[in-house]
Amino acid sequence: MNWLHVNSFYLLLLNAVFYVTCLEVRSTSILDNFMDNFEDLIENNGASSDAYTKFSLRKPSVPEDDICYVVPGNPGSLKECNFNSTSKTFLVIHGWTVSGLFESWVGKLVSALYERERNANVIVVDWLYTAQNHYPVAAQNTKMVGEEIAHFIDWLKEVTNVPLENLHLIGYSLGAHVAGFAGSHASNKVGRITGLDPAGPDFEGEHAHRRLSPDDAHFVDVLHTFSQGFLGLSIGIQQPVGHVDIYPNGGSFQPGCSQHDTLEKISKFGLLAVTDTPRCSHERSVHLFIDSLLNERQASTAYRCRNTDMFDRGMCLRCGRDQCNNVGYDISKVRKARSVVMYTKTRASMPFRAYHYQLKVHFSTRLDSSATDPLLTVDLMGTKGVVENLQLTLKKKITTNKTHSFLLVAEKDIGDLLMVKFKWEESTSWSASSMLKMVSSWWSGDSVDSEVAVHKIRIRVGETQKKMVFCIEHRHALSLQNEVTFVKCKDEWKKTSKRLNLGNH
Ligand SMILES: *[C@@H]1O[C@H](CO)[C@@H](O)[C@H](O)[C@H]1NC(C)=O
Ligand SMILES: *[C@@H]1O[C@H](CO)[C@@H](O)[C@H](O)[C@H]1NC(C)=O
Repeated sequence: MNWLHVNSFYLLLLNAVFYVTCLEVRSTSILDNFMDNFEDLIENNGASSDAYTKFSLRKPSVPEDDICYVVPGNPGSLKECNFNSTSKTFLVIHGWTVSGLFESWVGKLVSALYERERNANVIVVDWLYTAQNHYPVAAQNTKMVGEEIAHFIDWLKEVTNVPLENLHLIGYSLGAHVAGFAGSHASNKVGRITGLDPAGPDFEGEHAHRRLSPDDAHFVDVLHTFSQGFLGLSIGIQQPVGHVDIYPNGGSFQPGCSQHDTLEKISKFGLLAVTDTPRCSHERSVHLFIDSLLNERQASTAYRCRNTDMFDRGMCLRCGRDQCNNVGYDISKVRKARSVVMYTKTRASMPFRAYHYQLKVHFSTRLDSSATDPLLTVDLMGTKGVVENLQLTLKKKITTNKTHSFLLVAEKDIGDLLMVKFKWEESTSWSASSMLKMVSSWWSGDSVDSEVAVHKIRIRVGETQKKMVFCIEHRHALSLQNEVTFVKCKDEWKKTSKRLNLGNH
């Protein structure tokens, strides 16, 4: 059973990879088939002036259905579809498809766009005919489809005089590169392109002209959600390709999309559920964007950081000088010479926003480094609520006389932080007593045989940019318990009040 599941999982996941590999190997008959298909496509396309790419202006009342097509060269069709030339225009561009049908996210995205921008023109670009080819054929045709869209944009500009700044292309997977080609082939630059997990195979490492790049629009923003590599290839592109590239949860895969969850799904819903698997993390990019449209007040924050490891240690939660930005629709248009790489953590479902805390702890005396990985969990108590049992991940061994930095992620807003409680559990490699002695002496700081002392914890909250210092509560009341509580330090307040008292007497 398990073998079958796992095997199917990888078969599907590697579908794209498989074809790409075949193409590279140039193995006889399969390749010939590809090329036949490919040539048919080109011929057909050349033979008839009817383009295969269609432009469906959807209505807010029926976001799922194609009821009116804007036909390039036919200005009457704009009127028929109630195109509003004074408002924003979105072009939603889908990716590679096995079924040849729109995936269910398309209607959801259209609906969310109308929710936010009532008078907008939301046009779904239908290139399904081309996109249902084998992956490498579809990938090679992204340029051709992009050119068709560029012609559409030029025509639209000509007949309606819409400012291209009001044009926003949103492309998913292969559609992100289609959007890039559309932008680069249009006579004038469009306002914005959003790339939702742009496809990796055939585009990773390619020259900027052959993939989505910052040159393709005034502003290009990208969400990377599934860049976990298999056989040296990944479904989503790993390299930054926009002005701002955000990697939620490290960008490799997304919470709620793990293989374990997948296997569970399969056991419940059968093998058909496998098709969801490669898509879950890939498609998360779309849902993060939809979330940003629907939950404007709860925009997720992304933080500029050199790499995911530093981010996971809480070292990148600053907001000054464009160091943080909103995820999704309300992103600030930051343009630098090089792509700005940002990270964020999210929840597993909508609303995706999570809250980031950096804990800085200074361990001040010597510690036997062979015994430094107890399982610690943290509770955070704030004015609006409590989050419990957050795992404190020790990325490095605790070393002495050094400040260590940790990232904690809370799934809800707890208001202003009041209290931090550390708890630890017995682990197999630790006896209860040594554990207790060890950890309680860590945090207490005043035990005689203390090896390591922690007197204070400094905390920076990403979402509010507040900084605060926490001190141990009940310094002398530590006994045989397996938790330690820190509260906001009163040091400064004490000093001030003493001075005041002296002055009064
Ligand atoms: C067109 O959009 C503008 C706002 O962008 C709005 O004020 C106007 O009412 C719209 N026109 C029609 C006919 O809906
Ligand atoms: C750490 O710093 C303290 C005080 O500054 C010093 O006494 C101690 O020797 C230092 N320990 C190490 C391992 O450097």
